[in-house]
Amino acid sequence: MDTRSEILLRQAELFQGSVLLAGLSADDLLGRLPAAQGWSWHAGDQAALQARFPGRSHFGVEAPAETFDSAVLFLPKSKELTHYLLNALASRLAGRELYLVGEKRAGVESAAKLLAAFGKPRKLDSARHCQLWQVSVTQAPEPVALESLAREYQLPLAEGPLKVVSLPGVFSHGRLDRGTALLLEHLDQLPGGHLLDFGCGAGVLGATLKRRYPENRLTLLDVDAFAAASSRLTLAANGLEAEVLTGDGIDAAPMELNGILTNPPFHTGVHTDYQATENLLRKAAEHLQKGGEMRVVANSFLRYQPLIEEHLGPCAIDADDQGFRIYRAKRR
Ligand SMILES: C[S@@+](CC[C@H](N)C(=O)[O-])C[C@H]1O[C@@H](n2cnc3c(N)ncnc32)[C@H](O)[C@@H]1O
Repeated sequence: MDTRSEILLRQAELFQGSVLLAGLSADDLLGRLPAAQGWSWHAGDQAALQARFPGRSHFGVEAPAETFDSAVLFLPKSKELTHYLLNALASRLAGRELYLVGEKRAGVESAAKLLAAFGKPRKLDSARHCQLWQVSVTQAPEPVALESLAREYQLPLAEGPLKVVSLPGVFSHGRLDRGTALLLEHLDQLPGGHLLDFGCGAGVLGATLKRRYPENRLTLLDVDAFAAASSRLTLAANGLEAEVLTGDGIDAAPMELNGILTNPPFHTGVHTDYQATENLLRKAAEHLQKGGEMRVVANSFLRYQPLIEEHLGPCAIDADDQGFRIYRAKRR
């Protein structure tokens, strides 16, 4: 069980009513708190929760519409996302309790200071490198519309400027990542047909590809509902049409693809996690047609070439610049 769930269960008597657990892990917490409901924006956690506790977890970027006795926020990694989520929860909890739980190394102590905007925060418990905070919401804020928190930047492309829109918590919020920038310089001579932007974030790769090769079919996939929502905003801001999916890993991607382009994940929350990327490299061949191509940008210290050669085919390194590499491989 997630240590943050364990610390909640040390005070289980507080969470016997209809409590909303926002950003919960896919562990047994819902089983231990029978009147609780979940709110997840991680497609993998949501699928696991849905399988074990059908109908008890909501998925998406907006808090569920029902009224709850109280809510717990599991502290996310991003400060901007924490602001949005605390506002979304507190705005619905006038006269009721809002809790915040998180790891010390994830910054729970400083995030707890944000609770002071809604009432007088109290630290309820501290154990196993985690803290649990509570505030009675005496000053419920006005809800802030998620889209008002979007950031935009323009990418000058040969085909004309592309507007990139990102929401709080999304990778490289409001700016172009250096690795992505390098991959954007290496998008020529791609196969035509159905292309996948795996781990699309704000949709910069997928939108660029659709702008450059409008006859291609584009699918953008991300595990995070805020990333998928950002990708939809980016596509709409540029008048582009593509399919945007939420799903956990390459298993959620379409089959018979002609190309996979990706700046793949290597961090999850405060923990390093290469699993989604290793799985992608191992299984890309199953999702590509014969002759279909994968292009990956990754930090040079990540040794992806042997894995790609073992599972897909001969792998070229097209660029090695400022700590990033572009790998290119075709399905045999
Ligand atoms: C390094 S970012 C790249 C984002 C975007 N393509 C860009 O270049 O700016 C990796 C993305 O992969 C997503 N991701 C992480 N784990 C995933 C998984 N299991 N399945 C699909 N996407 C995942 C993250 O949410 C994140 O948006």
